[in-house]
Amino acid sequence: MDKIQDTIEILKMYNQDHIIKLLKKLEGKEKEELIEQINHIDFHQIMELYSNTKKEIAIKENKIENINYLDKAKLSPDQKAEFDSLGEKVVRNGEYAVVTMAGGQGTRLGFSGPKGTFKLDVYGKGKYLFEILAENLKQANEKYQTKIPWYIMTSQENNQETEDFLEKNNYFGYEKENVIIFKQGELPLLDKQGKLLISKENKIKEASDGNGGTYASLRLSGCLADMKEKGIKWVFIGGVDNVLLKMVDVTLLGMAIKKGVSIASKSVVKANPHEKVGVFCKMNGHPKVIEYAELPEKMAEETDYEGELKYGESHIMCNLYTIDAIEKVSKENLMYHHALKKNSYIDENGKEIIPDEPNSYKFESFIFDAFEFFNDIAILRGKREDDFAPVKNKDGVDSPKTAKELYEKYWKKQEKLAKEF
Ligand code: UTP
Repeated sequence: MDKIQDTIEILKMYNQDHIIKLLKKLEGKEKEELIEQINHIDFHQIMELYSNTKKEIAIKENKIENINYLDKAKLSPDQKAEFDSLGEKVVRNGEYAVVTMAGGQGTRLGFSGPKGTFKLDVYGKGKYLFEILAENLKQANEKYQTKIPWYIMTSQENNQETEDFLEKNNYFGYEKENVIIFKQGELPLLDKQGKLLISKENKIKEASDGNGGTYASLRLSGCLADMKEKGIKWVFIGGVDNVLLKMVDVTLLGMAIKKGVSIASKSVVKANPHEKVGVFCKMNGHPKVIEYAELPEKMAEETDYEGELKYGESHIMCNLYTIDAIEKVSKENLMYHHALKKNSYIDENGKEIIPDEPNSYKFESFIFDAFEFFNDIAILRGKREDDFAPVKNKDGVDSPKTAKELYEKYWKKQEKLAKEF
């Protein structure tokens, strides 16, 4: 009884009277589950995030500078060989793990299942995004005679479907004991008035807390401890939707080792100075990915003495960390960004409302916001046609159509190269 009263007090304090009404209506297990959920929510945090949505973003005096990078295509043969051999050693020794972030909602693609279960229409038969990733890792295992542990981050929402899908497809030939699935955290959604949304299951509607949640989720799920036990020294973290993603790039790894840094990233150069992508820079002396809207126009167009864009290295979710770096950022609080999105909910009359317009705030942290906790990062510029073919939008740029073209073109080129040797 006390627990119910305490829960009601919390809801009153944060003006969530509609949830009190719901709680009073529910019985038995449903009621218990809702109480449990309410007691797990950090209301102070979520209300602070809500009040931030009403504040003007303070423009701080930030010192923005360009950041150093190396272009993979321009490395000397000796330099490349040195990097490759350093990186290869780590992979062959079984000290390398891969994390795939597959907890996104894929709202722009408009595909209802987990994005990794999306089938890209390649070579007539098609390939699932998870299948393409598994193939990439299997090739690396074969090449370096190793078995790379593959950690897959799902959301509360898509976990079961992802597990069932991978099981049904026999993990696309990846050894099951080397596939570790873990769930990411969630935060409640709030409507424009700061009210929690109610889901069809008579719960408070929550959604994934963004890909920046990867670090903390790795620790909380026990995956970080598991990696340590396995003797892992370097961890790759990448997205689920880039069909040309190279998860085991020994040149990038060797470059990070040689430079003595704890984080590294593969970039591709912006298609044009005004492409709407986040680019690497140094802000107040620390590595940072700056959103296109935050980069002053003049800076976006600036070039160096070789005619290269000074702020041209796009972040493509292709990042590498030492295990200590993961541990460090897993304990930091990354900032949350908010986005107004369309989310269905149950209204006071028990009716499901499917909004036509964005109606609720989703709070997300971003993976790259962790870079500023470090003094340096090794950036290796790859090539768009070799490294970047994302499936983001239903049509147009970065869509299944463009990804299919780039994927088939890339593999045709690889076949041709293999024949020439
Ligand atoms: P995006 O930010 O592009 O999100 O994710 P998305 O879910 O794929 O697509 P939209 O924005 O809803 O259309 C980049 C990577 O981060 C993962 C995604 O699965 C993708 O691999 N991600 C994103 C998570 O794992 N969790 C999240 O909460 C958000």
